[in-house]
Amino acid sequence: TKEAPIKIILSGPPASGKGTQAEELVKKYKVVHIAAGDLLRAEVAAGSENGKRAKALMDGGNLVPDEIVVTLVKERLAEPDVQQHGWLLDGYPRSESQAAALEKEGIHPDAFVILRVPDSSIVDRITGRRLDPETGKIYHMKYKKPESDEIAKRLVTRSDDTVDKVKTRLEVYSKHLNDVASLYLDEIVFVDGNRPPQDVFQDIDAVVQKLQSGEKEKAVPP
Ligand code: AP5
Repeated sequence: TKEAPIKIILSGPPASGKGTQAEELVKKYKVVHIAAGDLLRAEVAAGSENGKRAKALMDGGNLVPDEIVVTLVKERLAEPDVQQHGWLLDGYPRSESQAAALEKEGIHPDAFVILRVPDSSIVDRITGRRLDPETGKIYHMKYKKPESDEIAKRLVTRSDDTVDKVKTRLEVYSKHLNDVASLYLDEIVFVDGNRPPQDVFQDIDAVVQKLQSGEKEKAVPP
């Protein structure tokens, strides 16, 4: 029998490792990774009107308005690969209205995974993060060094990855978390994200395996 497509929301503070874990889930399950931040950065790079509006808000660590982000995610979710392989929403929904927009479309996750990482580690992860513009791969100057000098030379730092902006980003995340999570109370799974990536992955993978075997993950209290 064919396994049901994966439907997971990956939540957590900025730089908690959502993208890092998503990369592993894609490798193992071929699930479609839909990261709101990546979709927005693509708009910015393309220089579209929406991209121009989004850039200033993203650089300040604030949320981009629903009229931009809801449409981008909705369109991506409607593509055929999603039907076949399932979806992994990363950094979306980030507000109650975004969650409501998903519900309106009948889109509900089987698990709402929250990566928990203390603020002190977040600052360390943000300041060391680098991005490979060619492959989209995420590196860290301490925890995940580039494989070669050639890659190291082309790495870039995201414009919102600064110590002063991380404060706003953390505040925005905390402000909305309860409202968003309240729509997914039966699906919440807390994962300790303050461990090596492979240990974090083991826990998330266990959630996916349970879901695929038809057993629903029980919420673990914080
Ligand atoms: P977005 O791109 O979603 O940023 P974010 O939530 O701040 O998350 P990040 O991408 O920064 O981090 P991550 O959790 O993926 O961590 P990563 O794996 O890279 O959003 C950016 C902006 O876009 C927002 O501020 C907003 O303006 C806008 N936006 C996005 N979504 C929106 C929405 N829905 N509505 C409105 N606006 C929206 O890891 C971080 C670093 O740590 C890396 O260097 C990595 O190598 C390292 N690392 C990862 N895991 C570990 C580990 N276990 N141990 C040690 N190091 C690790």
